[in-house]
Amino acid sequence: MADENVVLYEVRGRAAVVTVNRPDKRNALNQQVRAGLTAAFKRAKDDAAVRCVVLTGAGDKAFIAGADISEFEGRTPVDQWRSMSEGPVFDAPERCPKPVIAAVNGFCLGGGMEISLACDIRIASTAAKFGQPEVNLGIIPGGGGTQRLPRTVGLGPALRLILTGDMIDAAEALRIGLVSEVTEPAQLMTRALAIAETIASKSPVAVAAAKEATRAALSLPLDDGLRMERSLFALCFASEDKVEGVKAFLEKRPAEFPGR
Ligand code: COA
Repeated sequence: MADENVVLYEVRGRAAVVTVNRPDKRNALNQQVRAGLTAAFKRAKDDAAVRCVVLTGAGDKAFIAGADISEFEGRTPVDQWRSMSEGPVFDAPERCPKPVIAAVNGFCLGGGMEISLACDIRIASTAAKFGQPEVNLGIIPGGGGTQRLPRTVGLGPALRLILTGDMIDAAEALRIGLVSEVTEPAQLMTRALAIAETIASKSPVAVAAAKEATRAALSLPLDDGLRMERSLFALCFASEDKVEGVKAFLEKRPAEFPGR
């Protein structure tokens, strides 16, 4: 059962704000948080009023400071394998058909970095710090870090972070392309919600198709990716959103997308 208190879910405008809420443990991912996040992403997916998700951490210190290290003590390979068998939470933002924005407000380490890498857009406050510190513990990233970090920032910067365990600040994260913008801490949620609202004002059918096609670019050979893009492009022509979008443009008015 998901514990409601360690993962908060609130609908603001047309965005679901999902907040990891263990600030005194720097929002570390324990079993309850993982279950709560899985439930929150499912709830956002199923909620027709929600068009975008914003993921953040409670308090002013951490986004998510990684896996809860206290769960690692005495853990066997079989325990670890079982704990991940229900499908890794680290894939949830990527699998969510609605766009997910990570609003990184503090320490974004290990599994926190990995879940942010599965988000579609990352923005950070000036207080954010990023790192893959697993080598300090005698382990490696296990939530997608070795695969998604090089795909996001390139091999050199990814290896530097993964092999040294060093933390970088928000300015460095912006420089290497890990985040797309940096705000003052007080502006972070305002900005995340503004991006969410921009996306929410577009066609939900087109946004979902665009996410799927763009993400496929990282796993499909070019010919297959181009074929998939053309298929999804053609599919959009079957949507009421496309009829409304084109009509609204020709009538010089804002579109009101039905999301079908
Ligand atoms: N797992 C479990 N507990 C964690 C944690 C984690 N990943 N990160 C922080 N905490 C706990 C601390 O044990 C401490 O608990 P306590 O008050 O009961 O002693 C509390 O959160 C506050 O942490 P503290 O280290 O005092 O805060 P800080 O602001 O000085 O430093 C960090 C914050 C994130 C830099 C530091 O806690 C840290 O390095 N955490 C581990 C990060 C990590 O290696 N993550 C990857 C795991 S694979």
